[in-house]
Amino acid sequence: FGAPDWPAPGDTLSPVDQPKETLRTDAIQAGAPPMLVCPRKPDGQLRKSLFSQLLLLRLSPESAGPAAGQLRAFTAICSHAGCVVSSWIPGENFFLCPCHGSEYDPARDGAVVGGPAPAPLPHIPLKDVSGIIVIAGHFSARPGGRTGRTD
Ligand code: FES
Repeated sequence: FGAPDWPAPGDTLSPVDQPKETLRTDAIQAGAPPMLVCPRKPDGQLRKSLFSQLLLLRLSPESAGPAAGQLRAFTAICSHAGCVVSSWIPGENFFLCPCHGSEYDPARDGAVVGGPAPAPLPHIPLKDVSGIIVIAGHFSARPGGRTGRTD
């Protein structure tokens, strides 16, 4: 086991199912379900590990809080037991983990709003560089499942 291949500042983003595409800010519609993406290093290599995958979405302009209408990215790894948070609850606009039903609100920095998750979904800052989505910093907390951890 090496260190997780975390997204890093300067990485661009590609859809997991279309890895040759580099995502532009105008490609992400407000209020649409999240897209599962993987980061690409500045040298062109994709970060392929599960731990590097992100949920990318643009919050609806009507969502609560200062991030309304903005692009946001969160780890795809559930803070409960480490499943991929692969579902979405339309209308509520919550991420849903299919393993044990944890729900997270992307409009409130990934806060837990249902299920057994013990911690919010960590997020990572983004910026727009000439219309391209670029990672601008580091995760707000260490991603990964907490179940069974003793620290
Ligand atoms: Fe996501 Fe348990 S791993 S709810």
